[in-house]
Amino acid sequence: MTTDLYCVMGHPVAHSRSPWLHARFAEITGQQLHYDKRDIAPGDFARSVRAFIEEGGRGCNITVPFKFEAAELATHASARSVLAQASNTLTFKNGQILADNTDGIGLVADIERNADLPLKGLRLLLIGAGGAAAGVLGPLLQASPAHLSVANRTLHKASELVARHQALAAQHNTVLEAHNLHALNEAFDVIINATATSLSGAGVPVDARVLQPGALAYDMMYGPGAQGFMDWARAHGAVPRDGLGMLVEQAAESFLLWRGVRPPSGQLLSELRAVIAGGH
Ligand code: ATR
Repeated sequence: MTTDLYCVMGHPVAHSRSPWLHARFAEITGQQLHYDKRDIAPGDFARSVRAFIEEGGRGCNITVPFKFEAAELATHASARSVLAQASNTLTFKNGQILADNTDGIGLVADIERNADLPLKGLRLLLIGAGGAAAGVLGPLLQASPAHLSVANRTLHKASELVARHQALAAQHNTVLEAHNLHALNEAFDVIINATATSLSGAGVPVDARVLQPGALAYDMMYGPGAQGFMDWARAHGAVPRDGLGMLVEQAAESFLLWRGVRPPSGQLLSELRAVIAGGH
């Protein structure tokens, strides 16, 4: 029997935790597969995907900076990947390239299951309107919050993102609005940082008045990059959470798409935190 091949493609990809996660998922669920990482030169993405399919690849995860190209390369795309205009999961089947996006459903699973906070009826603030924010807005709306504000430094990008999602918001009875980052005067139950500020060390992009006492303050980054945001949230009476759980949950959802089995992601999140704390 041949072993099914998967990989993560990105640039850079050296520090990706995906091979570790998928190897553990496979072990725990008794699946036979091999998952590695491939650093792809900018401009070489489409050729690399086709070469991987030739090698017998069954699917791959896509990370920065290729998520948009991945969505464009697909022959079929899921509704959530069309709304996001980006894909983090490709599946290769019968000569087709199927694109999906599990980032948003991974974020919602981490908040609702791992942090035990159902989003239905809550007031949410999504900060940022780039690729990371676009990847999660649809699934956040599907969790039926009462209100969701998208705030961005450049207002027109938030307005475009909101316009694209307005029909979905109406289906879930969610009031969806776009705001300028510096014109926010309300407080929220959950705030989610989807800007690139943690990566660049630019500091927290909003005023602390957006935090309801005890609010969940979520940074989609993890590791040292997220620390400034986490410290800020704690200092202002919020409950900080980094994006490690989202990483594990989006991987578990990709594994489910490929293998038809959802691995025990909560257990894996604890394991991965221990691995990272141990300096590995
Ligand atoms: P990604 O794919 O990580 O989302 P992106 O598409 O380049 O990357 O988007 C980056 C996001 O971070 C944008 O929302 C950007 O705001 P602008 O649209 O105004 O550029 C936001 N961002 C980056 N640096 C920022 C800063 N210093 N303060 C506030 N927002 C910032």
